[in-house]
Order: sequence, then structure tokens, then C-alpha cells
Amino acid sequence: MRITMIGSGYVGLVSGACFADFGHDVVCVDKDAAKIDALLAGKMPIYEPGLDHLVSSNVAAGRLRFTTDLTEGVRGADAVFIAVGTPSRRGDGHADLSYVYAAAQEIAGALDGFTVIVDKSTVPVGTGDEVERIIREANPDADFAVVSNPEFLREGAAIDDFKRPDRIVIGGDDPRALEVMRQVYRPLHINRSPIVEMSRRGAELTKYAANAFLAVKITFINEIADLCEKVGADVQDVARGIGLDNRIGAKFLHAGPGYGGSCFPKDTLALLKTSQDYDAPQRIVEAVVGVNDNRKRAMGRKVIAACGGDVRGKTVAVLGLTFKPNTDDMRDSPAIAVIQTLQDAGASVRAYDPEGMEQAKLVLDGVAYCANAYEAMEGADALAIVTEWDAFRALDLGRVKSLLSAPILVDLRNIYPRDVVEKAGFAYHAVGR
Ligand code: UDX
Repeated sequence: MRITMIGSGYVGLVSGACFADFGHDVVCVDKDAAKIDALLAGKMPIYEPGLDHLVSSNVAAGRLRFTTDLTEGVRGADAVFIAVGTPSRRGDGHADLSYVYAAAQEIAGALDGFTVIVDKSTVPVGTGDEVERIIREANPDADFAVVSNPEFLREGAAIDDFKRPDRIVIGGDDPRALEVMRQVYRPLHINRSPIVEMSRRGAELTKYAANAFLAVKITFINEIADLCEKVGADVQDVARGIGLDNRIGAKFLHAGPGYGGSCFPKDTLALLKTSQDYDAPQRIVEAVVGVNDNRKRAMGRKVIAACGGDVRGKTVAVLGLTFKPNTDDMRDSPAIAVIQTLQDAGASVRAYDPEGMEQAKLVLDGVAYCANAYEAMEGADALAIVTEWDAFRALDLGRVKSLLSAPILVDLRNIYPRDVVEKAGFAYHAVGR
């Protein structure tokens, strides 16, 4: 198959490289010439484990190309994926579809022969209809069909998620288009990943419903964690106790400082906007958004409470800044609210993150960024673990104690056993335990 990716950002690049790895002939297009030049030189614009190797090996094999020339990229393609950004529009929270529509407009002029246009970007219900209308209007003779094929990639595990998905969702009703999509995903289907075919609107909504449900699950266990602290129970026991029920499932039941990232916050808001437009309130998701927003600053107050209720003039060491491990992504990271809450209360913050410090510097002022975890602890009055990078899971507690001026450990990701930390002489504060 000849596949074109419009947009060489996170989703486009990972998907394009994986499709090439399956043996398809892939062209990744991006308007950003600097990004394309960097990719041609083997430099990745994002941090994603395994991606540089996947890209370079497929470029070397001649299956993966990069270009800024959309027309050249689209000509002769069997499937053209639209994988451009859909940020929250400033002001109203609606997904900003201008990049999607601009891509549709440009693709229209370059079509030759039957082509499947695939909406890969996370787009509100009805976007596929509009993409179809734009292309039809711009090029009335074009032979094409628009399908929706949402992605479910997690940052940090995107390649594995792409190659071994729980399911592939394809929305559309044109038989020729569905056949092309089956060919595109055939290598995965052989791995037993089910292909779920449905209407285009159904597929568009599935993506939002999946992310919203996961956000509900996380927020639910976070509130149960708060109750656990009050009643003297351990949320990890409760999560295991409920998660082993197959109807509930064990995943996404880790209590913590609240969800962040590029998807859950944006997609839950976009779903709420759609629900308003169609007058079908999503009250559960509405509550989840509010609870999660409040939680991030509440976690800052938790650190302050662990320090005796007053951090004026004190220093807090913060380990982990990104919204989760194995990414450099700071978007809506709980660490931002935690650190700002500490700073507002008069604390100084020394921080370390294995990959996120460059991004963090763009959003957090007044933080002393350190070269490693132990340097961040030097002279600090407490240590807070905000993101569960593996490198923080086996800290030398003796050394930590000698570096801190007070042995206080606030573990917002529950990665330490209480007894071990307390035996090492720390006051230990976790989430829901
Ligand atoms: C998510 C979805 O998982 C993915 O399918 C979709 O395509 C994009 O959005 P991602 O944002 O990369 O992926 O990260 P994910 O691993 O889902 O974590 C999101 C946030 O939830 C993180 O802040 C994480 O720390 C938090 N989380 C996750 C919890 O607090 N507890 C959990 O049990 C799971």
C-alpha cells in the first residue's frame, strides 16, 4: 500500500514509521521545513523510546520518506492520513480544526485516482462530514472516501501500542475504502488485533468516549484514595480488590496527583463542548474535569501539610516534572500546579526530571533545575516524587536522608513501600495509604 501521513508530529510520525515497518510505502509530509530537515538528518522532534531506530531503519530500507511537498506526497497514494494537531481553541475549549480543514483543502487539489482520506487526528463528531464536503467542493471530480480511524497511542509506549493494539476502530461506509483500510491494517490483524468497523460518527465518538472513560476511572480511584486516607485503608489494596473483577479491570486504577498530558484534559473538554452542542449533558465527565483540576493544586497543599503546614522560606526537592514517565511532555502536568502551589506559599523548589527539564523551563519560572536526583535534594526540607520515572524507584534512602535537612518523603505516585521508608527514618506521606 502507498500511505501518506499529513502531519509529522507525534501521531503522524509514530504511525508512519510503524506502517513503513510493516512493509508499506510511506511518505510523511509536514509544512515545517525545519522539522522535515531534522527528520531527514535522523533527528526526532519528540522523545519516544525506540522511535529514532524505527525511523532510521525504515528510511534506510527505502520505505519511509519525508517531504514538505504535500502534492507530491499525496499523488498516487492509496490512503492519505490526516494526523495534524487539534489543540483546544483558546477561549471556548472546542477542538481547533483549522489545521484539519486546511489539510483537507490542500489534499483535494492533489488527488488522482481513488484515494481514502483517513481522519486520524482526534476530531469531534461530524468532522469527517465536513472534510468530505470541503474536498468535494474544492475538487468535484475527485474519486475519494473519508473514513475515521482514531488512534489510541500512549506517549512513551506508542510504538508498542501501535503494533499491538487492543483494537483498530474504522468508521465509514464506502466498501472500497473499507477494503483499503483492511489492507493497511492487515499485518496487525494477523496479530489478532480485532478491527471494529462502524459508522464514521461512531468512530469519532469512540475516541472521546474511550479517553473520557479512562479519565473517569483515574479520577474515581483518586477520590477513593482520599477516602482511604480518612478511614485508614490502603487504596492499592482497594484498587486490586476491585480491579480483579473482570467487569472493572485492573488498569488505570493507580491513584496519584491527577491526570495530565496532551489527550485527557483536551479530549474531556472537547467532549463536553460536543455534549452542549447536541444538548446531551455528560455530567459525569463534567465532574471529572472539575475534580481533576482541583486535585493538582491539592497535591501541592499535601506537600505543604507534610512540611508542617508552612513552607515559607523552606526548600522542596521535586523529582519528576513530566505528566508521566518516558516522555518529555509537560502539557497539563500535575507537577506544574504542585510547584506553583509551593512557590505561592513561599517555598523554593529544586527539581530534576530525566527528559522534561527543557520543556519545564518554558512553563515554570523560579525553579532551580538540577543535574540529577540527588543534587535536587541537597539542603532541601522535604522530597516530593511527582512523576514515577523508573530512576526514582530505587533511590539510596540513606543518601537521601543525609542530603535532606529534614527526612520527609512525599510520594505522590505510591512507588515506595511505607515500611521500608519509615524504617529508613523518614516521615512518609503517600496517596490514599
Ligand atoms: C492517553 C490514552 O491512554 C491513549 O489511549 C490516548 O490515545 C491518548 O491519551 P497518554 O496521555 O499518553 O495516553 O497517557 P496515559 O498513560 O494514558 O496517562 C495519562 C495520565 O493519566 C497521566 O498523567 C498518568 O499519570 C495518569 N494516570 C494514568 C494515572 O494517574 N493513573 C492511572 O492509573 C493511569
